[in-house]
Amino acid sequence: MDNNIEQYSWFSKFFHWITFLILIVQIPLGFILVRMEFSDLRITIENLHVVAGITVFYVTLIRLIFKFFSQSPKLLPNAFVGQKLIAKLNHVALYVALLTITTSGILKKLFNGEKLNFFFFKLKINDNFDLADQFYTVHIVSNYTLIILISLHILAVLFHQIFLKENILKRMIK
Ligand code: HEM
Ligand code: HEM
Repeated sequence: MDNNIEQYSWFSKFFHWITFLILIVQIPLGFILVRMEFSDLRITIENLHVVAGITVFYVTLIRLIFKFFSQSPKLLPNAFVGQKLIAKLNHVALYVALLTITTSGILKKLFNGEKLNFFFFKLKINDNFDLADQFYTVHIVSNYTLIILISLHILAVLFHQIFLKENILKRMIK
């Protein structure tokens, strides 16, 4: 889409950094959770993990709906062939990974037969432990995919800064 916008809106910036802040706690929390023995503390940590995960799910949906109805700043001109395409693919893949990791976590819990609190309503469905296991595998795979995509995303920002001498971070901060 052609436009003259050079900055992300405050709305996009706010939800971008909220997602970042939640994820730097949420990913380690998941790894800690699966290594814990059953206890009250484990139940508390799992509840926190679920609340944070469902929050990321809603935030990602809100970001995508907002993106659909508004204009994003244009990507910077190509410094090398395909650069814009790579940036676009990274952003799309990040959104897909965020939706996959959250929905797989939600479906794992639901197919375990557990009642889930979606803040505005509660949901419980019939259990199916095979499906619960499969969605947990998706949860694990999408977690590693997300970690790789976030690493590439941060490396790209550093690449712009160091090699192309472009401060793209200001588009997401100022
Ligand atoms: C948890 C991790 C993160 C996720 C999931 C994430 C996700 C995203 C997504 C999906 C976009 C595209 C926004 C859109 O056009 O709709 C974006 C843009 C951006 N992100 Fe992140 N981000 C993360 C962390 C970071 C960090 C740590 C930095 C800084 C080092 C950063 C810097 C940026 C910048 C500068 C843009 C704008 C890129 C441009 O204008 O071409 N992000 N991010
Ligand atoms: C931002 C999104 C999320 C991230 C980054 C995330 C990350 C993780 C990670 C890293 C693990 C450990 C995986 C392993 O190595 O075995 C995990 C486990 C788990 N996650 Fe998530 N998760 C997210 C969202 C959710 C959501 C929305 C739910 C449910 C509503 C959920 C439920 C669970 C459950 C039940 C476990 C396993 C605990 C057990 O072994 O009993 N997660 N998550």
